[in-house]
This record gives sequence, C-alpha cells and structure tokens, in this order.
Amino acid sequence: MSDREKFLWGCALSGSQSEGGYDEKGKGMSMADILPNTPERYKFMTDGSYALKHMNDPHYYPARNAIDFYHTCREDIAMLADMGIQAFRFSITWSRIFPQGDEDEPNEEGLRFYDNIIDECMKYDIQPVVTIDHFDTPLGLIQKYGGWRNRCLIGMFEKYCRVLFNRYRGRVRHWIPFNEINMILHLPFVGGGLCFSEGENRDRVKYQSAHHQLVASALAARAAHEADPRNKVGAMLAAGEIYPYSCNPADVLLALKKSQETYFFTDILARGSYPSYARSIFREKGVSIELEPGDMEILQNTVDFIAISYYSSRCVSADPEVAGQTSKGNAFEGVHNPYINESQWGWQIDPDGFRITLNNLYDRYQKPIFVVENGLGASDKVNETSETAVVDDEYRIEYLKAHIKAMNEARRDGVDVMGYTVWSGLDIVSASTGEMKKRYGLIYVDLDDNGKGTGKRIKKKSYEWYRRVIESDGEIL
Ligand code: BG6
Repeated sequence: MSDREKFLWGCALSGSQSEGGYDEKGKGMSMADILPNTPERYKFMTDGSYALKHMNDPHYYPARNAIDFYHTCREDIAMLADMGIQAFRFSITWSRIFPQGDEDEPNEEGLRFYDNIIDECMKYDIQPVVTIDHFDTPLGLIQKYGGWRNRCLIGMFEKYCRVLFNRYRGRVRHWIPFNEINMILHLPFVGGGLCFSEGENRDRVKYQSAHHQLVASALAARAAHEADPRNKVGAMLAAGEIYPYSCNPADVLLALKKSQETYFFTDILARGSYPSYARSIFREKGVSIELEPGDMEILQNTVDFIAISYYSSRCVSADPEVAGQTSKGNAFEGVHNPYINESQWGWQIDPDGFRITLNNLYDRYQKPIFVVENGLGASDKVNETSETAVVDDEYRIEYLKAHIKAMNEARRDGVDVMGYTVWSGLDIVSASTGEMKKRYGLIYVDLDDNGKGTGKRIKKKSYEWYRRVIESDGEIL
C-alpha cells in the first residue's frame, strides 16, 4: 500500500440526481431532464429516439427538481462536513456551463454555482472530486448533433473541460471526465445521448461514440495536466467482477468476453492504445470504426488513476436454460448467483467480489484506484413514534461494513486504494428507476417519488456509524 497521500473518506452524488433548478440562471435542458419516473424509463434510457418523441408527455421528470441541492447545497455540505468527510464527489452539470453545449462563451452564473460548492468544500477542508459529465449530455447537443455519435462533441467537451480547469485551478485536484464510461454500451441514451434509427447497427454507433468519448477523455487528461501538473485525472468504470456460472469452459470463455467489454475502456485510457481483443469484438459485432489521423497519439495521454463504482458482481452462463434465470444490476443483466444475497431491487450483494475486483484492476494497471461509488439502495422508513425522527438503516450499515472490510483486505493484499466515497451522502433520485424511494443516502430526504414532501433532511443511523469509520480511518467498522 502506498503512503504517498492520505486515504480519502467521503461521499458522492451527481448533479442531475440532486440539484433540480433545471432552468435556473441560464441552465439549458439536459438528457437527464427528459427521463420520466415511469415504469417505461428503461426504454427512454436505451434509445433517445423514443425519449425525444415523448419528452413533452405529462409525466413527472424527477431530475428537474431532484432534492433541490441547487438551493440547499450550503446546508447539505455543512451536514456532510459534520460527519467528517474528507472528499466530496459531485458532478458539474454541463448544461449549466454551456446551456446548449455549443456556445462560444460559458454561462458565468453556472460557473459561480460551482465556485460556491468548491468554496464550501474548502471551508471544511474537504477535497472536491469532480465528475465532468455524469449522465447529462446537454439536450441541445443531442437534438442538433445526435449526441456522442457526432465527432464534433469531442471539441465541445474539450472546451468545456478547459473552462473548468482554468476556473477551478488549484482548488480541484481530482477530475473524472466521464461517469462510468462503459455505460454507453448498456444505456446508450444515458451514456452518450444516442438515438437510433430503424435497422442501423447499434453496436457500430455505440463503439464509434465510445471512441469519441475515449478521445475526448484523453484530451481532457492532457488539458488537465497542462492546466496544473498537480491535477489527477481518473478513468471511471461501472466495475464488478464477472463470474462464470460454472467451470464449464464455455461459461469461463463467456465471462472473459464480457469482462473484456468492460476492460476495453480502461485498457485504452490507462494504457494509451486499443487492446488487441478489440479486433475480435468488432469482428463479432460487425463493427468498423472511423478514426482520424492523430487519434492514436491523443490516446497516449493516459489517466493517473482508475475510478470505480462497485455495487455487485455479475455472473454469466453460456447455457440458455441457466441464462434465463436472470438477476438485475442497474444496467447489466446476469444470471442469479446462488451463493449471494440480493438487495430489495435485486442487485446481488457481494463484498468478496469487491475485493476481487480491486485486486484484478490493480494487477492489470498498477495505477491507484479510487472507489467513487459504493452503497445500498433501500426503501428506508422514518420512525415517527420516537421523539425525534429516526431512520434505522442497520441493513445499510451491514452492507457498507462488509464492503469497507473487503476493501481493507484488498489494501492488505497490496492494492493501492486512494479513497472511498459512499453513494450517496444524501438520498437522491435513482438513476435507473427515477425513484426517490430507492434511497442510498446516509441522510434521509423527505421527498417521495413524485417530488412531494417537506424536503427535510434527517440523519440516518448510518450517518453516525460512518462518522466513526472516518474518525478511525476505517479501523472501527
Ligand atoms: C451508478 C451511477 O451507476 O449507480 C449513479 O453512477 C447511480 O448515478 C448509481 O445512482 C446507483 O444506481 P441507481 O440506479 O440505483 O440509482
């Protein structure tokens, strides 16, 4: 384990799931603002054509109000600071800075909003960890250019990044260009603002768009290092070990192939070139991507660390009968693993898988790993009978305890972990379901799935528990 820098304990959230204020102070609409909280949400998330067609339907669009963090950020950060956090991961909403995405000049009021958040962090000696694009491509870029399928987004993203690096120079050191960059393969509208036309090869569009994001990410790394050599840039994966269901070589091979689909992104961003197996992925999917001269040189601007979200492992089977017994993850479907339990939302709970994931990623890249998301979505209840409202979320404490223990063991295995930010500090809107009742926070927020409620913040039992974890540097769990 490296003692180079202090391990950072903290919390995380994203702009579209927390801020609300979707049209305030010049903000433009983003992809997230047109996702309703209906049972059909998944259809919207996978195909933007459907989402654009239905964007004016009379639904509740939770990102537009979320938990009103836009107005409550000072008080919320104060509560998080009181818990002792040392790092706060949040995202900058692209359409607050460039409302349509393609303006010449940034929106000063948007920049000022994040100045305030960063100032609040500084006040409490909290390090900001900033995601530059967390599932919120500006709607203007989707409607005008077709989202990330269009190469011109690379330049607009680079410009947006440079604005941020200049403005927040010296105050923000940790940057993550894209949240879960591999998500573009699974939720293409969410990950890349992609819309499809009838009959086109979706894989070709997804991999071409992924190439654009990878080049954009490498350009962001270069710009961040130019702006301040102390900047650290991370490539972020929705991670989680993929197990073969059995020792049948067909299952093992399938698990390898599925793992390569994920590693594809970090192999490029951490090593600076396309992996050799990319050829076979492209061949199997009938994909050929267009590269421009200079792209391969740009990709050599590699990242400083690997950032991951870890919620669960996955399990795959080549046997169609077994493969029918599916289990859920936020975007990945896999086979139900009989050895592990599931959350209320069917996500498999696997702390050992966390240790395995950390070991494998570190063995592969030998770069520090920042765990920027880990947590449990559960439907918490406020106990109104006690004098002060209480949320007894012992199950969340159990989940976090088991995962932090697994991470500590991975560190003892030799994995260099830089920090850990719980998803999420406060209850926020669920990215996959749009619900509020799927709560991840250590602080309860009194709002329901339709945005109704007082918005009051209540510390959960896990809040006090995590304070002790931080105080003891992860020793007392
Ligand atoms: C990650 C995302 O995929 O999982 C977050 O980066 C998301 O934005 C988190 O909230 C948990 O997923 P969900 O769908 O339960 O909110």
